[in-house]
Amino acid sequence: MAIDLENKNIYLPRLFRIMEIIPETSDIKTFRLDLEGENSSHLPGQFAELFVPGVGEAPISITSSPTQKGILEFSIKRTGLVTSAIHRLNSNDRLGIRGPYGNTFPISDLTGQNLLFIAGGIGLAPLRSLINYVLDTEKRNQFKKVIILYGARSPQDLVFKWELKKWQMRDDITFLLTVDRGDDQWKSTVGLVPNVLKENIQVNPLEWKSIICGPPIMIKFTIKALLEMGFQPPDIITTLEMRMKCGLGKCGRCNIGPYYVCKDGPVFTYQQLQNIPEEY
Ligand code: FES
Repeated sequence: MAIDLENKNIYLPRLFRIMEIIPETSDIKTFRLDLEGENSSHLPGQFAELFVPGVGEAPISITSSPTQKGILEFSIKRTGLVTSAIHRLNSNDRLGIRGPYGNTFPISDLTGQNLLFIAGGIGLAPLRSLINYVLDTEKRNQFKKVIILYGARSPQDLVFKWELKKWQMRDDITFLLTVDRGDDQWKSTVGLVPNVLKENIQVNPLEWKSIICGPPIMIKFTIKALLEMGFQPPDIITTLEMRMKCGLGKCGRCNIGPYYVCKDGPVFTYQQLQNIPEEY
């Protein structure tokens, strides 16, 4: 099993070849790694530590679904030393990986359910692993209706445009795309994600699970909107990535309330988070 370091040195990264780099926005790129005949052992929601020799490492969520055999994908925003070093790599360079780490989206709880995915900006990256898992030909009939609401600040800030087109063409899901500010070419919805959610999505909240990820302000107001719609805290699921460093529950950097994000998360229900506001 690729990148499964069970029974091995947990600090030792393995090097994998970058087979493709997809520019997403001015500061986000998706890196597709060749697992050279192996398959990743991760499940949607998990993350890995990406390592650049001589620079350091950074925790990044795995954006590919485990149903995509032989590859791993990471969408990386250029924010610091390590992510800038990763952005300077080219196809056929090697990137160090250790992991997978963290808990997963509760797939058994989501099986047989209607799923409402809500993402903002690069927050689509961790959700995409679960979305493509659910939409996989062999998995799709294990889940009921699927709605995806995705928004970004502007059309230029949308990630995975190459895949959004495929989702738009599917007739077994409802896909809504919005931006905060459009431009001359933009023909879709303009509006903030929480507003578009309340104005466009009418579902019985007791029959749906919602999975959300995005900037903290978007998560805050999206959860508020979901609660107003009648969603229950255990049925609102989110994923956090804040302040993680070691990924192993050892450095203490990712502590929020009673949790370590890297070990107890990064996936949490709102029921778990509702009593520790302002920390995430
Ligand atoms: S990232 Fe070090 S304890 Fe969680």
